[in-house]
Amino acid sequence: MKIGLASDHAGYYMKKYLAQYLKKEGYEVIDFGPDILKKVDYPDYGARASMALSNGKIDRAILICGTGIGMSIIANRFPDVRAALCYTPFLAEIARLHNDANALALGGRIIANELACEIVRVFLETKFGGGRHLRRIKKIEKLALHRFEK
Ligand code: RB5
Repeated sequence: MKIGLASDHAGYYMKKYLAQYLKKEGYEVIDFGPDILKKVDYPDYGARASMALSNGKIDRAILICGTGIGMSIIANRFPDVRAALCYTPFLAEIARLHNDANALALGGRIIANELACEIVRVFLETKFGGGRHLRRIKKIEKLALHRFEK
């Protein structure tokens, strides 16, 4: 499974920590930046990873800013991206089971790296439940008014 990572300065160290964890677990990791710690704007890097997810170049995106809020907002602008901001493993489980979330937003200033790892583990290992949940997701997709050139 190909995992795209992106952050801003507030999520930079958590991104590095998660990249190490994911590689150790055998995932292919693509880091969409930033490559060094500097003050940056989360939409720039969030958009890179979200675009790749939308285009099918990666299977999941993990997006980290200070709160995770900005990253979830930018990610959800892209077609077929369903980003969930999760602060607990339970939220990550439900985001996969019920919402088929393919992007995970995390708050680098809110939770510890160890908890973020557990949230990521659950997010990547939980399968979508389908059934009535698929019907609901299809309703969301029908309402998506903005379509980008892929
Ligand atoms: C950066 O200071 C901060 O605003 C950003 O990381 C994020 O929390 C935005 O949602």
